[in-house]
Amino acid sequence: MENVAWWKGAVIYQVYPRSFCDSDGDGVGDLAGLREKLPYLKNLGIDAIWLSPIFRSPMVDFGYDISDYREIDPLFGTMEQFKELLDACHRSGLRMILDLVPNHTSSEHPWFVDSRSSLQSVYRDWYIWREPGPDGGPPNNWLSVFGGSGWELDEASGQYYYHTFLSCQPDLNWRNPDVSAAIQDVLHFWFAMGVDGFRMDALWYILKDEQFRDNPPNPEYKAGQPPDYQFMPLYTADHEEVHDLIAAMRRTADAYQDRLLIGEIYLPPVRLVRYYGLDLEGVHLPFNFALLECAWHARTIATLIEEYENILPEGSWPNWVLGNHDRPRIASKVGDDQARVAAMLLLTLRGTPTIYNGDELGMPLAEIRPDQVQDPLELNVPGLGLGRDAVRSPMPWDSTAQAGFSEREPWCPLIGDWQIRNVAALDQEPGSILNLYRRLLNLRRRYHSLALGSYHPVAARGDALVYIRKSAQSDSVLIALNLGSEAQKVIAEGMSGEILLSTVDAEMHGPVADKFELRPNEGLMIAVSTGAKLKAASVSSQLSKT
Ligand code: GLC
Ligand code: MG
Repeated sequence: MENVAWWKGAVIYQVYPRSFCDSDGDGVGDLAGLREKLPYLKNLGIDAIWLSPIFRSPMVDFGYDISDYREIDPLFGTMEQFKELLDACHRSGLRMILDLVPNHTSSEHPWFVDSRSSLQSVYRDWYIWREPGPDGGPPNNWLSVFGGSGWELDEASGQYYYHTFLSCQPDLNWRNPDVSAAIQDVLHFWFAMGVDGFRMDALWYILKDEQFRDNPPNPEYKAGQPPDYQFMPLYTADHEEVHDLIAAMRRTADAYQDRLLIGEIYLPPVRLVRYYGLDLEGVHLPFNFALLECAWHARTIATLIEEYENILPEGSWPNWVLGNHDRPRIASKVGDDQARVAAMLLLTLRGTPTIYNGDELGMPLAEIRPDQVQDPLELNVPGLGLGRDAVRSPMPWDSTAQAGFSEREPWCPLIGDWQIRNVAALDQEPGSILNLYRRLLNLRRRYHSLALGSYHPVAARGDALVYIRKSAQSDSVLIALNLGSEAQKVIAEGMSGEILLSTVDAEMHGPVADKFELRPNEGLMIAVSTGAKLKAASVSSQLSKT
């Protein structure tokens, strides 16, 4: 076996700790609860878990507002429990990735408390302070992503500080080398403890224009879009020099063995792939969110895969994300049947996939009544459909009270159908989406081509999307997905193979020839016979609707 970095062949699973499992009956998930569920994750077949922030926090943005980067918030548990969890993960062969929030702290972080206390504070320059603009208002037109001006007046000093997100999430000043050093120290702290990597929050925002120029108006802005879209984020995001700051963090990670850095970056593909860094000294994986926002059409998806594959820098490794704690659930977007096809897509594309907890159950968005809204984004900018509570609903484990998540009413409402859609119930159904995920994850382990092989597009016509994963040494797998509800005919000239898995029929196996049919909403995986020596170029496929 070639010597490949662990994370290339790995599948990452995002745990939203508040909503995973509650052990102490306070209605909020915690580390001890997660610890209990490690066997479930191991059995699912994932390789690494990424935990959304578990650090000390006033929890206004549910942990993305950190007041101590080196402490576990008591809501989630103790440092002892964290170390025990990390150990338990490693003993069972799972890696652990934490969430680093370098763009901002909580306003309760001692750095900010000190910074705000006086113009002479040694921490004053750790944050972005400015005099008011000429009219006495905010220094410029920069808007917060969470609504309103990005500038907050501090009455005491008469100066404004900048916050990309909530006003209680002041942005750190990354032009100050002390800030960079302090965040490096945080990385050292957790890496030395044995943490395997970090997902880095809002990474494309950390550096801003040195001259604080106004952002230009966005001619394409339409009412109903997030309010910050009114201006193009020319001077507030994706700064040219951000890559030097990231490279410094990468050097820190590289001082340890086998550590992984992932960046949360919402940018168009050409801008996104720059975060691999020139000479690949950036993050290992800039999260690729293309599937989160695209229309569910074969041609659209084929095109975005191709565009992405084509612009990946030499030597870089792709990755795919189908859901996270900020975006609507895939099952609500495409429906139950297509959620299964989506699972096959995610787990057969080339690159490291990230599964969001609950998507393996086909969880839909929970229903959130107006009086149940807790997400500060929805509270600040109501009615635009930006709310994220619905995607943060607790994991339903069984059909007992509170879905086995907690002994008390959970902090966020359960999904409507938790009594039938829960881990215990789906576990018993051979054809459930949960068991489909398990099979898919199992196949990724068995077929080298799926984990590490090359990607060859075959066709995207009508609702059919067909591609091959190929491994030079060993196997080839053809994946044929029907993204619609009508049968599709596929002709893959010269092919013969064995059916590995169908999304609609767990029992389906046996030989398949070069002409086959995809049933409505069916995804098929076919192990291409080695004898056929199928070359991507030789698979001229004709797809037609029946
Ligand atoms: C990231 C997180 C999101 C959070 C924001 C501000 O986008 O994923 O949940 O609200 O950063 O920290
Ligand atoms: Mg708890």
